[in-house]
Amino acid sequence: MSVSNALKQRRSVKHFDPAHKMTNEEFKHLIDHAILSPSAFNLQHWRIVRVSDPAQRQAVREAAYDQPQMTDASEVLVLCMDLKTWDKEPAQYWNHTGPEVTDFMVQSITGYYQENLQAQRDEGMRSCSILSMALMLMAQEMGYDSCPMDGFDFAKVGQIINMPQDHEICLILTIGKALQAPHPKGGQLSLDDVVLTDRF
Ligand SMILES: Cc1cc2nc3c(=O)[nH]c(=O)nc-3n(C[C@H](O)[C@H](O)[C@H](O)COP(=O)(O)O)c2cc1C
Repeated sequence: MSVSNALKQRRSVKHFDPAHKMTNEEFKHLIDHAILSPSAFNLQHWRIVRVSDPAQRQAVREAAYDQPQMTDASEVLVLCMDLKTWDKEPAQYWNHTGPEVTDFMVQSITGYYQENLQAQRDEGMRSCSILSMALMLMAQEMGYDSCPMDGFDFAKVGQIINMPQDHEICLILTIGKALQAPHPKGGQLSLDDVVLTDRF
């Protein structure tokens, strides 16, 4: 499937077939490709919690105002970010590049993030959001549907998945087989509304 077709066909599905399961091979194929996504300083902030236990699924559904995707999707992925990747042996993100580049990158990473709590969070959020789109496009190519979701109590879901203190949730991505087509698309703004040349 071409990227343009994946973009055209992707919709946020509300009702998934609860009987359909993704195989571990499919899951690996999905994740192997999605984690090729770009991340700030290659920090790969994303930590993906694959919620599969039915009791955990039910608890997440309750924290998500009873949205059915949380129990019925083939995959429920809580996309978390590690806010402190920059401080956890940063050389590991640049260990294929030779010592000069590694040293330069480690210094840059430390200098940028050390005193900058907002950057720690913003960069994680950007990187996880990009991962999320890559997952949705891969899912589409693999014959799956998806729905990105933030309609849930973030603190409750954090407790359910036992998330460490130095992590945050970006969103939950549900992936599965649609049982029914979503409503027609809400409608796109015009290019004139969203594209500006040189300045506002
Ligand atoms: C950050 C984000 C959060 C969303 N949260 C939910 C959600 O909690 N439940 C839901 O059914 N859809 C959710 N959506 C899906 C949007 O409603 C949907 O993307 C939008 O209406 C456009 O429709 P489309 O994705 O089918 O083109 C979310 C989408 C995004 C990007």
